[in-house]
Order: sequence, then structure tokens, then C-alpha cells
Amino acid sequence: MKAKITLHKEFSIGETDKRLFGSFVEHLGRAIYTGIYEPGHPQADSEGFRNDVARLVKDLDVSIIRYPGGNFVSGYNWEDGVGDIKNRPVRLDLAWSTKESNRIGTNEFASWIKKVNSQMMMAVNLGTRGARDAGNLVEYCNFSGSSFYSDLRRSHGVKQPHDIKLWCLGNEMDGPWQICSRTANEYGRVAAEAAKIMKWTDHSIELVACGSSHAGMPTFGDWEITVLDHVYDYAEYVSLHTYFADRENDVPNFLGRSLEMDRFIKTVAGICDLLKAKKKSKKTIHLSFDEWNVWYHSNEADQKIEKWTEAPSLLEDIYTMADALAVGCMLITLLKNADRVKIACLAQLVNVIAPIMTVPNGNAWKQTIYYPFKDVSLNGRGTVLRCPVDVDLYDSKEFSDIPYLDAVAVFNQERNEIVIFAVNRNLNEAIELDALIANFADLEIIEHSVLCNKDLNACNSAAEEKVKPVIQQGGKMEGNVNSKKLISSLPAASWNMIKLKVIGDKQ
Ligand code: AHR
Repeated sequence: MKAKITLHKEFSIGETDKRLFGSFVEHLGRAIYTGIYEPGHPQADSEGFRNDVARLVKDLDVSIIRYPGGNFVSGYNWEDGVGDIKNRPVRLDLAWSTKESNRIGTNEFASWIKKVNSQMMMAVNLGTRGARDAGNLVEYCNFSGSSFYSDLRRSHGVKQPHDIKLWCLGNEMDGPWQICSRTANEYGRVAAEAAKIMKWTDHSIELVACGSSHAGMPTFGDWEITVLDHVYDYAEYVSLHTYFADRENDVPNFLGRSLEMDRFIKTVAGICDLLKAKKKSKKTIHLSFDEWNVWYHSNEADQKIEKWTEAPSLLEDIYTMADALAVGCMLITLLKNADRVKIACLAQLVNVIAPIMTVPNGNAWKQTIYYPFKDVSLNGRGTVLRCPVDVDLYDSKEFSDIPYLDAVAVFNQERNEIVIFAVNRNLNEAIELDALIANFADLEIIEHSVLCNKDLNACNSAAEEKVKPVIQQGGKMEGNVNSKKLISSLPAASWNMIKLKVIGDKQ
């Protein structure tokens, strides 16, 4: 099959925000306990954090990490997780029917965040708690002078404020599964009042209001309109969440789901602009896609987990090659919408629907989805170029006109590199790609890295890495000073990253 893409230096979508390459760690299952933290493990540091896990996280260059939930946050008392560990209460976590020991809390997590060179995106509890408690947490974390809560932080041994810049106003507050879920009006009111107190405490912070839990919620659309009406002047972002599933083992349909994700983004952006017009505001609300991933493999197993245990193996999806392709399509969708999506969090990071898995007292290993995320996080920063694709389309059970090739390109001016990310959705045939690239100086192929495996159900494990990238040779550059052509072959059912060096300046 043949495909053509056309890139031009002057035709861009926008700059990627650093926070587009984020992830998420919730107090859920083994994300924290026996995930990032396992005192007594041979790789544990003096604080009990696993160095092997921290290394894999650092290798992903995760820009922000959302914490502590998720559904967990809607029942969380942040005060339980600070101060002397011996005095911290063991609580029932009603979100996941587990026990939370509170051995890790705000200060320990902030310390781990530094180790992995990331930034915290903190969520406040707007389920069982309210506006005042949210403000108190901002004061505890960020206030540099002397006050009740900042002095409390100091008494806990943390002199310098954490200076957390990005805060979520609750989590999925429209979902009946949420502890103390709310109607859009109830949530909009409490979110606006919490936002006022939080920003009066620290005017430098930015806030994310909860959008719908997913696009299929019955209140989707109405929820965003009502909530934004309340919070427009106080929040900078509205959240979107999406999890893909392939319960019927219909990969062509599964890979078409990113069209739905694209529509979701454009619809929410449209609603934000509707409110902008209604309020005659100069401010644009941007999008925080702060939960996205594939999630379904562990659903059945989770039903059998004994309740009220500490750190059980919940949501431990083992990802396939097909899932890596789906994640690739999601990453491409986020990049294509970089003008509106400023924040995104792969949910989650360790053990819980995660790219990184751990064996208690054993090794840490990389799932299939680790690789597309790493490629984009390390090489997808810069100016996203418009990338019209000319390729055959197919229809699936739920979607029509799905292009066999999904692709986007990013120009990184500092490195002088153009990086093309592409998924070949054709499960049977390679795509012979012609990429016409205009208005750049000379170009040279640096690398074409490919992730593929004939068995779309192939998974990695603690013992074996069946799915990992390989370097492909054989691509070439053609053309003249005005227009260059990259000729390359993308194997059937593959994730591709093609890096080109821009040599010299275009006259
Ligand atoms: O990421 C797992 C869960 O998915 C989160 O706790 C919740 O916000 C969402 O429903």
C-alpha cells in the first residue's frame, strides 16, 4: 500500500507544551507500595524508593505526574499522609475497597518527584472535603512565609515550599462511582469557591476543572457547559479522560478509536470557546487530557481481588503489541491537537495500567506501551507540523473512513530535527511512504525505529521482552533544494519513529 504525507516548515499546528508528556500515580493497587516504594528491596534507597523503578521513570522524561488520584482523592484526608509516619492512620479507601497505610504522603511523594526529575500535578479532594481544605493544602505545600499550615510543614521537616504549580479541582466528579459525586451545578459551585481560596493563597498556581469522566457519559456536553459557566474566570484548563478497550478482539476497530478521541478533543475545545463567547472573555480555556490509556485486560481479574487488603494487584493490565499501536495512535492524536491540549497524563505510570511493572523483591520491566510513550516524550517536543495524509481508508464496526496511516511530525528547532511518528494500521501490508518535506534545508535520515511483532497479542513480561523497538535500514532522501522526499517503508501493524536531521539553513 502507498501513502503520501506533506510537511512544510511554515504550516504548523502549534508548539508542544512541556506538560503534554505527563503521567499519573494514584494510591491504587501496587502503584506506590511495591511499585515506586518498597523498603527492603535490594534496589531501595535510604527513603525506601526503588532505584530501578526511578531509573525507568527518568528514562521516560515524564514532565508532570498527577497525584494522589484518581478516584482515591475523593475520600482522601491529606492530613493523614503528613507528619510522623508512626502516627499515621490506616484508612479504608472506599474508592478501591482497599486499606491505605498512609506511609507515603505529600512530602514523601514530593521527594520522589525530585528523584525522577519531574513536577507534581496535585489533585484536591472535592468529594468528602471542600474548598477550605483545598486551600489549606495549598498553604501547606506552597506558602513560603510563616502561617499555621506552612509552619506545620516545617515542623514535618520540610523547610522549603513544594511550590506546586498545577492543581486539579477534584476528580471525575460526574461519575456515580466517585465518592460524593456531584451534579454539574453542585460541582461548579464548589470548584469555583475552592479555586478562589486556592488562588488567594497562591496566585501563581494554575487550575484544572473536571470535565466529564469520558465522552460516553450521559451528561457529556451539558456538564462542561454548566461547570465552565461557574469556573471560567478561575480555572485555566478543563479535564478529559479516555480509556480504550478491545473486548471483542477487533484490532482494526480498536485502532480506529483515536478518531473518537480526536472528536472528543475538538468538541470540548468547541464548548470552551462557546463559553468564551458567552462570557465575552479574552481568556481561552485549554485542555488537560489527564487520564488516557488502554484499560480492560484486568477488569475480570479485579472482580476476584479480596477486599480491604493493602496494595493488592489491581488494574494490572498486561499490554499487547496491539495496545502499543493504540497508544501510538493516542499519542499522535494528542500531538495533532497540541494547540489546545496543553497537559496530558498517561494513566498510569507503575503497575496500575502502566508502562512500568515491578516484581516485589524482584525486577522492574517495560511493557509494550513503554516504547511509543518514550519515543514521543523524548523526541516529540517542538513545533507540531500539519501533516495531511493521502492513503486508503477503511471502515470498521464502529468507525468509517479510518486512514490506514496515522501520522504527525514535530520540528525541534534546538536539535534541528524533524521527527515523524506514524502508525501503520494495515495489519497485513507494509506502507510505502513518500514524505514530501518543503522549505527545510538539506535533510538526512538519522534513525528509523520500528516497534512491531507479527503476533499482535505478544506481550512483554518480567522474564522476556518480546516487543521492543528495532532500527530499520533502507529509507532514503530524494529531491532538490526546494522540496525533499523521504522514501520509507512502514511494516504492517507497526509504530514508527523516523528522525531527520536538518543540515544547514534554508536560503
Ligand atoms: O486510572 C484509574 C481510574 O480511572 C482513576 O482513579 C479514575 O479517575 C478513572 O476512572
